[in-house]
Amino acid sequence: MIPALTLMAFLTMTSAFSAPKNKPAPTSKKSPTITLKRLAKERGLLVGAAVAVPELFEDPVYEKFIRNEFSIFTPENAFKFDALRPSRDAFSFETPDKMVHFARLNRMLMRGHTLVWHNPAALPNWFLKGKFSAKEKREILKDHIQKTLTHFKKAAKGAIICWDVANEVFHHDGSYRTDSIWAPVAAPTANAFLTQVFNWAHETDPKLKLFYNDYDIELPGPKATAVYNTLKALKKAGVPVHGIGFQMHQGPDRITDLKAIRANMRRFAALGLQIHITEFDFKLKDSEPKESALEKQALAYADAINLCKSIKACKAFVSWGITDKYTYVSRDNSGMGRANMLDFELLPKPAYYALRSALSKKADRRD
Ligand code: G3I
Repeated sequence: MIPALTLMAFLTMTSAFSAPKNKPAPTSKKSPTITLKRLAKERGLLVGAAVAVPELFEDPVYEKFIRNEFSIFTPENAFKFDALRPSRDAFSFETPDKMVHFARLNRMLMRGHTLVWHNPAALPNWFLKGKFSAKEKREILKDHIQKTLTHFKKAAKGAIICWDVANEVFHHDGSYRTDSIWAPVAAPTANAFLTQVFNWAHETDPKLKLFYNDYDIELPGPKATAVYNTLKALKKAGVPVHGIGFQMHQGPDRITDLKAIRANMRRFAALGLQIHITEFDFKLKDSEPKESALEKQALAYADAINLCKSIKACKAFVSWGITDKYTYVSRDNSGMGRANMLDFELLPKPAYYALRSALSKKADRRD
């Protein structure tokens, strides 16, 4: 039996954002100013999404929604090591610079993602297949960070406000990924590795806010504690770590212990770190009945943005993609998908309206 209050809250919320069926995104003519970015600005937040290419330049509906609704975006793949580095001696900035131009033209900000990540899917074959010594890997990574940030310092002229310097450096049990292809770059501890890469980034562009980014660290647990303890030590040692990215890939079950997430996030804020929700999405089982699944998903989107609203250090909410049409989810999670705020036809789902509804209300508290 659902307690009456929760049920009432649920009914209020669902009625508030139950989507008009098959209507274009409400930022069309009739409500040009009520956009996610406008509502978020009133809450002191940036709101955005991961953006894919070539879709950004080939799908005008996708491009218009991004341009109208968001104040910040993260290149989903275009700034990763594999995309930037066709060979050891070459950098390819053509597509990334087109995304930067799009951002500057539309007065949007960007999150750089990501300078170092172990995932082979984001590493080029010349690096994966090369037999590089620890010393050579160190030189390759140092060169990558320095040349990439030097390029964008000039090309982006401040549009890129932060970078996920290091992504997913800990295993689920909180141990450091000593098995990472990058681990030999610095002495075999997370602290030494992160100290090295954050210092290289900060020395190259001192104006950037430098983030550590990871998944499954929103709830307290061994991984969240390992990240917390490491970042606490780095901050104490004066290492230039400015923020923590909670990816928050969610679903198909909705996390209800929001108090625990908030307390966990606030302890990172107490270290003096900015908080970004960096990759929010909520996957659904293909077998789930549509209506109830979409309402559950909408509540999860509202939960996440309300969490960010309620913590002063939380400055940005970024979803990982915007439409079920262009997504990694179904490819990487068999039997699941539909994780985004727009459907396959790029029409708003209840999740989109839940974000608008949540952003149109003041936070109960913001500390
Ligand atoms: O662009 C090529 C295309 O030319 C080729 O035909 C196709 C088939 O091989 O691959 C395309 O590249 C794929 C790329 O996505 C663009 O779709 C890569 O193979 C594929 O590995 C890549 O997956 C991305 C993955 O990170 C690895 O980089 C996903 O789109 C992206 O959503 C995912 O995002 C990560 C974050 O960066 C870190 N946090 C987790 C998150 C989800 O895994």
